[in-house]
Order: sequence, then structure tokens, then C-alpha cells
Amino acid sequence: MRSTHAQAGTHPIVETKPAGADAGAHHGKAHRSDKHDSKAGKHTKPAKPAKAVKVQSAPRRFLAAAIKSPRQVGAIIPSSRFLGRAMMRLADMENARTVIEYGPGTGTITSEIVRSLHPQSRFFAIELNESMAQVFTRNHPHLKLYVRSVADVEQICSAEKLPPGSVDVIISGLPWSVLPEALQTELLEATVRVLRPGGVMLTYGYHGGLLLKAGRKFSRSLPRFFSKVTRSKPVWLNLPPAFVYRCEK
Ligand SMILES: C[S@@+](CC[C@H](N)C(=O)[O-])C[C@H]1O[C@@H](n2cnc3c(N)ncnc32)[C@H](O)[C@@H]1O
Repeated sequence: MRSTHAQAGTHPIVETKPAGADAGAHHGKAHRSDKHDSKAGKHTKPAKPAKAVKVQSAPRRFLAAAIKSPRQVGAIIPSSRFLGRAMMRLADMENARTVIEYGPGTGTITSEIVRSLHPQSRFFAIELNESMAQVFTRNHPHLKLYVRSVADVEQICSAEKLPPGSVDVIISGLPWSVLPEALQTELLEATVRVLRPGGVMLTYGYHGGLLLKAGRKFSRSLPRFFSKVTRSKPVWLNLPPAFVYRCEK
């Protein structure tokens, strides 16, 4: 199991090289080698400039992960802060003391969660994709991240000394409708077990996704797991436009 921790004495899971760190060291050499070589009496070939080590931006990394694992990532760009804010408006964050984020990706919605968290609340995130986890850690070095599957949420809660049925709010970015149905059921059942009675899971779907069979099927399945399910108005300032499901245990 790997996790990153906010507390001192722990380390982020990834170390990225600063952009151009190598390139800078070789830059001058490339120019010098283009001079006339007096001993040999001829021009030497210009040395190839060293390649810069690129640190991909968060959206690029997101896109690369989406291309590599489309059925895990389920989107090609991160959500907007507007969607994150819409989710926060539907969570009673002032009274939430235990908050978990599922599938934070590069951490856009996380930034809105952090803004809304009560100072005494506990927060951690669970992200399966290593590449996303690297960017998340870069963007949120002080937050705790479990690089695991949400399927392990009960084990993770137990490691966190959270008894079953004690979590107040779960913010999910999981791409539900691209996940196999058996996995959806497994994850939703585990989610209900960790939530306290009256606790909520907030998740989103794409407006256009409701035109697709998988999106409609997921939407119809939610009341099997939760006692109350509502859907927000579309958040048009998200690409693609999305809405938020508020699912209460
Ligand atoms: C649609 S992206 C959302 C990313 C981010 N929340 C956002 O809104 O920009 C879905 C994320 O869920 C992650 N994911 C998919 N299945 C997962 C699982 N079983 N456990 C944890 N994370 C998972 C993916 O790796 C990806 O980062």
C-alpha cells in the first residue's frame, strides 16, 4: 500500500525533474563545439543540443492517461472548478468531519474541496492511476493520497481508524458509466457501508451521457443503493456540461 501524507516526515510518491534541468547544463557546449578546431584544421560537427526533460502539464498528463486507459479515466480533460463548486454547494461541508475523494485525477475538484473543508475535518483521496497520482501529489503535496482502487475503501478506512458507517461525505470523480456494471455495484456497496446514515456521496455525470444507455442505466441504478438521490441543474461551464448527483444514505 502506498499513500502520501500531509504530516512531516513523509514523502510525496513521485519526484519530477524540473523542466530543462538537463538541457541547461549542456546548452553552452553545443555552441562551443561549432567553433573551428585549430589542431585538426577543420570544422567540427555541431554537437546535438541535449534534449530537455519535459514535465508534462496537468492537462497533458490527464489526456495521456485518458488515451492509455480510457476505461479507467473516462474523460479527456479535468473537470472545471465550476463543477467542483457546484458539488461543494450540495455537500454540508461545514458539518462534515470526514471527507473522502474518489478518483481525484490531477486534483481540480480537490482544490474546491480543500477550500470548503472545516479546519478540524479529515480528508484523504483514493486514486488508482499512478500517472494521475504523480500530478496530484505535485499539485497537492500536503494532502494524503492512497494510490489504490476505491474497491479497497473499507480497508483504507480501517487503516485510518474510521469505523464502518462513519464517513460524512464522499466526493466521487469516478467515471461510473464506463466501468463494468459488476464493478459499479462493488464500489457503490462498499461506499454505502463506509458512509454514516444520512451521509452523502456526490458524483457527476455528463449531460450528454444521459443520451447513452450506460449513463441512463447508472442513473437508474442509484436508488437501489441510496435512500435519496437528486440531480442538479447542468453546470454549463464544465466541458462537457455536467450535472451533480447527490446520493444520501
Ligand atoms: C473522469 S476522471 C476524473 C478526475 C477528476 N476528479 C476530475 O474531475 O477532473 C476519473 C478518475 O477516476 C480514477 N479511477 C478510475 N477508477 C478508479 C478506481 N477504481 N479507484 C480509484 N480511482 C479510479 C481515474 O484514474 C481518473 O483519475
